[in-house]
Amino acid sequence: MRIGILGSGLMGAKLGTIFARAGHDVVFSYARNRDKLERLAREAGGNARAGTPREAVRDADALLLAVHWLRFDDVLGQAGDLSAKVIVTCSLPMNAEDTELVVGRTSYAAEELAKKVPKARIVSAFNTVPSEVLFDVFESRGKPAHRPSLVYCGDDAGAKETAAALVRDCGFDAVDAGPLRIARYTEPFALLMGQLAYEGHEGPEVAYRFERF
Ligand SMILES: NC(=O)c1ccc[n+]([C@@H]2O[C@H](COP(=O)([O-])OP(=O)(O)OC[C@H]3O[C@@H](n4cnc5c(N)ncnc54)[C@H](OP(=O)(O)O)[C@@H]3O)[C@@H](O)[C@H]2O)c1
Repeated sequence: MRIGILGSGLMGAKLGTIFARAGHDVVFSYARNRDKLERLAREAGGNARAGTPREAVRDADALLLAVHWLRFDDVLGQAGDLSAKVIVTCSLPMNAEDTELVVGRTSYAAEELAKKVPKARIVSAFNTVPSEVLFDVFESRGKPAHRPSLVYCGDDAGAKETAAALVRDCGFDAVDAGPLRIARYTEPFALLMGQLAYEGHEGPEVAYRFERF
């Protein structure tokens, strides 16, 4: 697939690198400096390159949206027309300092995004793991017995298949949690996982596995 990365920070840089190493064409975009995007593309290898958000969207089979949700308007404005595009969002509704989840009736990140781009095909995924585990999970993908789970949700069946394929490419079992409205439960779950991970003495290490769902 051709995958546009909108937001090349902790999540976007790692997932974009993994997607490139899994054989996808990747365009890294949206960082404060172009040199960083060029470096990420070089280090990812494969068919990765740096571009603008508009270039990342052009001909993309899927987009990974990995920005603070307060930056949605800015990045979406730069991305251009997203009608019919598959957008996999890992955004969580955090306060400006990234220290607390903002939970309220109107404050779920995936639903906010769906209101802003109603014609896009949105899947919420990748937000229920700390970014620090991503490379380890990818590198252990040959050992299925230990494959951790990763939940995703969305309303468009085709978009969900695309997202699930990417989740599996990263080395996780893809667990379908249902329609996009379920993101209001998976988003707080993501914060719980993050909290557990950062409580440890040796840094974030937690990935989880559902034996039954
Ligand atoms: N980190 C995690 O473990 C984790 C886990 C689950 C979900 N999430 C969610 O995933 C989303 C992304 O998280 P993250 O940790 O990857 O965030 P991050 O490291 O802060 O990355 C955000 C990206 O947006 C870019 N950006 C910010 N302001 C910009 C501006 N004014 N102009 C251009 N680019 C700008 C940053 O540029 P620079 O690269 O130049 O800084 C960076 O590439 C968030 O919604 C977060 O809640 C994160």
